[in-house]
Amino acid sequence: MSKNNLRYSVQTLAVGVFIATSFLVGGCDTDQSRELTPQQQLLRSGKELFSQKCASCHGARGSGMGSRNGPALNGENYRYGNEREAVLKSIHDGREDGMPAFSSVLTQTQTEALTEYVLYLQR
Ligand code: HEC
Repeated sequence: MSKNNLRYSVQTLAVGVFIATSFLVGGCDTDQSRELTPQQQLLRSGKELFSQKCASCHGARGSGMGSRNGPALNGENYRYGNEREAVLKSIHDGREDGMPAFSSVLTQTQTEALTEYVLYLQR
């Protein structure tokens, strides 16, 4: 290979790497601005599940205005505590005065998504 040829290949390679890198970086940037963070995705699916499985008792957005007997969840005075652990347990195992257990109905991920949404309602 002549000296010129070698220089040409190195230049081509450098340009190629530059284009590939900017394409990758650019691609990542647009993805991030368009897509939801994992946290937002969890909240969104929690919200959806809540309206399907919980709102009949607890009301839309946990207002406590459901057609059945669920207490409001949009405040900070939870009977069993407001921490993540307590909320997760309420959903998973149920509570004595009418809160059904959802462990056999929901996956772990769904339970976590709902917990995330309930914690969000408290604020
Ligand atoms: C059949 C009606 C009903 C459904 C459906 C229901 N709940 Fe409940 N929930 C209740 C009642 C009643 C209580 C109060 C239980 C108690 O005080 O022992 C309660 C309590 C709770 C608590 C504890 C509140 C506190 O004060 O500590 C949480 C959290 C909760 N529910 C979340 C949910 C979520 C999330 C769903 C949907 C997966 C759901 N509930 C579905 C009736 C319901």
